[in-house]
Amino acid sequence: MAQKVTLLIGDRRVELPIVTGTEGERAIDITRLREQTGLITYDPSMGNTGTCKSGITFIDGERGILRYRGIPIEQFTDRPNFVEVAWLLIFGRLPSRDELTQFSGLLTENELLHEGLGHQFQHIPVNAPPMAILSATLSNLSCYHQEFLSLEDSESFAEAAARLISKVRTIAALSYRRSRGLPVIYPDPAMRYCANFLHMMFSLPYKQYVVTPEIENALNLIFILHADHEQNCSTSTVRMVGSARANLFASCAAGVCALWGPLHGGANVEVLQMLQRIHQGGLSPEECIRQAKDKDNPFRLYGFGHRVYKNFDPRAAILKEACDRVLSTLDRPDPLLDIARKLEELAMADPYFVDRKLYPNVDFYSGMLLRSMGIPTNMFTVCFAIGRLPGWIAQWKEQHDDPTSKILRPRQVYVGPALTEYRADGSEVNGQ
Ligand code: SDX
Repeated sequence: MAQKVTLLIGDRRVELPIVTGTEGERAIDITRLREQTGLITYDPSMGNTGTCKSGITFIDGERGILRYRGIPIEQFTDRPNFVEVAWLLIFGRLPSRDELTQFSGLLTENELLHEGLGHQFQHIPVNAPPMAILSATLSNLSCYHQEFLSLEDSESFAEAAARLISKVRTIAALSYRRSRGLPVIYPDPAMRYCANFLHMMFSLPYKQYVVTPEIENALNLIFILHADHEQNCSTSTVRMVGSARANLFASCAAGVCALWGPLHGGANVEVLQMLQRIHQGGLSPEECIRQAKDKDNPFRLYGFGHRVYKNFDPRAAILKEACDRVLSTLDRPDPLLDIARKLEELAMADPYFVDRKLYPNVDFYSGMLLRSMGIPTNMFTVCFAIGRLPGWIAQWKEQHDDPTSKILRPRQVYVGPALTEYRADGSEVNGQ
């Protein structure tokens, strides 16, 4: 296969190298394009632009493939262990039993928040958006752990990663408890990661929340399926901020802000609100589909479509099956699941969606699973962030450890006013 392409510019022929990835995907290397031709490329949504070489996650959007460090995500579903997958993504291989035990110990050591941080919560309005609390508090962690502002050794990096992964759970639970006027429930060092989160969310001083194996497995699965997704909007944000050598806490706090958007991680909230509107009779499934197709209507069929997957999102398939399994164990069926299935059936039979390859994505079923655990809608994107944090850390580390990485600084095509003279009286005379 050719290892270069030739660009014809006028009567000039410019050869550009081809970069080939592990799975045969190919990219034109334009790192010297402007130097050689004076030209730049233009790709405003970056859908055709690779910003890095990465060995963390592989996606084949046409074939619906997602692998973490080469392992298909389907292979994590039997005994889902989020902490093990987090270690895999960050350190590049599966941990030994001792390494996993040691990392779990670090998570336990770091599960409490500095009391000063906890007091800050007293002044946050009870109706504050949980994602605002999460991004602010992750950034604030750098106030209380200044030793991690520069991570020059692997020991401190592992500790900082464990600190973030452990505390994000405590912060999330604390924001929920505050919003409900409930007393703080401290983490239980005897509990595993997901069980401890649910304990902090739902236990009461006089009554311990009992985590069933089905629910604990389902939450591990949800966090695993959200753990990384190559250069999506929030991960690219983490890399952008990290490329300036900003610290890990600040970079991940920026990632939370990007994930908040309803076109990205905020879609799981929009999906539930859409299903609830239908359930409450405000909208029929058929009308929902019609509105989503109407170009004059900003409404979209949330949970459908994807920049990369032009096939079924493999995560959606796994979550759909998990919804069936977990919801069948509950003594009360969830009417929203039937509505979701109806919407999927209508969309998959509609040429508008089929022709545009708009299939259910990770957000379409994840909310229903979280809802089955009693997690409120406004905490869904926070749960997405808990799952995505190891991926952000892994991507930040990969860039941080790359000696060739530079500060990310895209260019632009300027379309503003030509040279214009400034006149003190405010009148402008366009430069000739
Ligand atoms: C996530 O990047 C990642 O990996 C993200 C993520 C991750 O793990 O990090 O996978 C998580 O963000 C999943 C996506 C969650 N978002 C939603 O469910 C919101 C609804 N989906 C859309 O907004 C949209 O599909 C996007 C944003 C997900 C993808 O947008 P694209 O690829 O830029 O698609 P597009 O806007 O160019 O749309 C192509 C066409 C357009 O119509 P035409 O101009 O061709 O007529 O499809 C239409 C769009 O109007 N379209 C939709 C639609 N999604 C696309 N029409 C109705 N409903 C939708 N959901």
